[in-house]
Amino acid sequence: MCGIVGYVGPRDCSDVLVSALEKLEYRGYDSAGIAVFEDNEIKTVKTKGKLENLKEKISTEGKPDGHVGIGHTRWATHGEPSDVNSHPHSGARVTIVHNGIIENYLELKEFLVSQGRTFLSDTDTEVVAQLLDYKYNGDPLETIDSVLAEVKGSFALGIMFKDFPDRIFAVRRESPLIVGVGDGESFIASDVPAILQYTRDYYLLEHDEIATLAADSVTFVDEHLQPIEKELKTADWDMEAAEKGGYAHYMIKEIHEQPTAIKTTIIPRIRDGLPCLEECGITLDKLKDFKNITIVACGTAMHAGMVGKYVIEDLARVPVNVDIASEYRYRNPIINKGDLVIIISQSGETADSREAMRLAKSRGAQTLAIVNAKGSSIAREADMLIYTLAGPEIAVASTKAYITQLSVMYLFAFELALAKETISVAECKRLVAALLKMPDAVEYVIDNCEEKCKYIATKLIAADSLLYIGRELDYALSMEGSLKLKEVSYIHSESYAAGELKHGTISLIDKDMPVIAVATQTDIIPKTISNIVEVKSRGAKVILVCTDTCARALDEGVADYVIEVPHCEELLMPISAVVPLQILAYYTAVNKGNDPDKPRNLAKSVTVE
Ligand code: G6P
Repeated sequence: MCGIVGYVGPRDCSDVLVSALEKLEYRGYDSAGIAVFEDNEIKTVKTKGKLENLKEKISTEGKPDGHVGIGHTRWATHGEPSDVNSHPHSGARVTIVHNGIIENYLELKEFLVSQGRTFLSDTDTEVVAQLLDYKYNGDPLETIDSVLAEVKGSFALGIMFKDFPDRIFAVRRESPLIVGVGDGESFIASDVPAILQYTRDYYLLEHDEIATLAADSVTFVDEHLQPIEKELKTADWDMEAAEKGGYAHYMIKEIHEQPTAIKTTIIPRIRDGLPCLEECGITLDKLKDFKNITIVACGTAMHAGMVGKYVIEDLARVPVNVDIASEYRYRNPIINKGDLVIIISQSGETADSREAMRLAKSRGAQTLAIVNAKGSSIAREADMLIYTLAGPEIAVASTKAYITQLSVMYLFAFELALAKETISVAECKRLVAALLKMPDAVEYVIDNCEEKCKYIATKLIAADSLLYIGRELDYALSMEGSLKLKEVSYIHSESYAAGELKHGTISLIDKDMPVIAVATQTDIIPKTISNIVEVKSRGAKVILVCTDTCARALDEGVADYVIEVPHCEELLMPISAVVPLQILAYYTAVNKGNDPDKPRNLAKSVTVE
C-alpha cells in the first residue's frame, strides 16, 4: 500500500525522505518519488520501480537541495506503475502525495477538464492536486477544507503549497497518517517506523483534521478550521525491533521472534491461572449472552479465525461462522442485535475488514477487534479490543502476528467456555497452563526443524503446484501453510480438507504434485494417513508434518519426509505445527531467489477495497 512521508527541519530533506521511505517498504510499492523546496521552487524526482531506482535518478538528475519536502512509495491503483503516474503530483501551485482512493475522481476530473485543466497522469491523485490548485485562494487551510468537502473516498495527503516554502500540510480520511515531532523538526508518515530513527513522539491525525508542519511548530485544525489540541504519543517500539537484527530477512527474524511474541501477548492476560480479559472490555458476564459469533478477516488473519472457529465450537459450543471480509460486507449478511462479530487484523487498517466491522456495528452487533497495530482504525472503533502484542511486523507475509492471533483466540475461547460453563475452572486452568508451555514448544520446533525444512525446501522449488491436506484443525492450519507458500515462493498451492480429496481433486495428483500433509490430532490421524496413502500410491511425494508420537507409529515409507513437532495439548497444536510450514515457505522463496519480505504484487496493509 502507498507510503507517505514528509519533513520540515534542518536536515537534508531528500536524505530524510528516502530513508523514511525505506522504513515503509514493507507496505509494498511499485514506484517512488520525492518533492523538495529548493530555492522556493518545488523540485520533484520520481520513478517507477524500487527506491534504488529513485536513488539512482536522484544522483543523475541532482539531489533536490532543501529542508522541506514530501515523499511517497506508490502501490498502483489508478493507472499502471510508471514514471508519470508516480507521486508526487502537482498543479501549478500545489504538490501532493496521496495514499488511498478518491472514489469520485472521474466526476471531479470531468469538471476540471471543462474548466480547461489538462492532466498528465491516469491517477486519482492528480485530480486532487489540480482541484487544490483550482480552489487555491492564498489560504492553504481554507483551500484544503474546501477540497475535503468535495472529495469522496479514503485518503491521506501530504501537501506543499508553492507560496509556503517553509511548511507542509497533511490531512487524512480513513487512510492512516501520523505527525512526528522532533527537536526543531517535524515529520509526517503513514506509519511510526518511518520516523523512529528521528523521533519517538507523534500525534495521530484523526479524520478530516488538518495539520500544518513547520520546523519548530505543529498545529492542528478540525474540519471547521477551529484550532485543536492533540495528545502527544510516544512510540514504545525500539528501533532495533524494527530492524533485521542480524537475520537475512525480516520474515525469518519474525519467525524466530514467535516464542517471545506469544509470551508477551498472553502473560498479561492471565491471572491466577485463568484468562483475564477485563482490561480489553471482556467479562464473563458479557460473554454469557453471546449466542452466535462471526469472525471476519482477510488473508492470514482469516486463517487464524478458522482455527478460532474449531476451538470456540469445541470448547464453548457456540456456533461460529468465519467470513472473508470482502464477501461479508457486500453480501447482506445475517447480523442479529447482540451477536458478536470478531475482526482480526494485523494492521488494523485493512479496508474490507474495517468496513465489515462498521456494517456489523451499524446492525447492532457487538464487535471485538484482535489487532496488532496500536491506534489503528479497527482498534479505535471496535467495542472491545485485544491487542496482539507481536511488535512491528515488517515482512509482508504474516508469521508472528498470526501466531499471536491464535494465542488470543485460545484465551478468548477459554474465557467464553468458562462463561458458558462448558468447561470447569479446573479444566480452564489446565488449558491455560498448556498454553503457557507453547512458547517453549515453538522454540523447540524452530531449533529442531529449521535445518530439515531448509533441506526439504530445496526439493520444492521445481514444483509448479502443491497440495496441502489436513482434517479439522489441521485443515485450518494447512490453509495458512498454503497461503504462506504462495505469497513468498510464487508456487501455486491449494489446501484441501483431506477427506474431500477423493471428490475431484485427487485427479490432479501425479509424481509432479508434492503433497504436504498435516496430522496432529490423534483421533483422526488414521484417516489422514489413509489419504496420504492414496496420494502416495498415485506418485506424489509426501511431506508430513505430524507429532512425534504419530511419527513413531508410522509405517515405513508412508511419507517421503517427516517433520516432527512435539506432542502438546492437541487443541493447541496449530501454534507449534504452523512453524515448519512458515519455515518451508521462507526457504522455498529464498531458494528461488525471491525476496520473501517484499513479495511481488502484495502489500502489507491493504487500505483499498
Ligand atoms: C494483505 C497481506 C496479508 C494479510 C492480509 C490481511 O493481503 O498481504 O498477508 O494477511 O492483508 O491483513 P491484516 O492487516 O488485516 O491482518
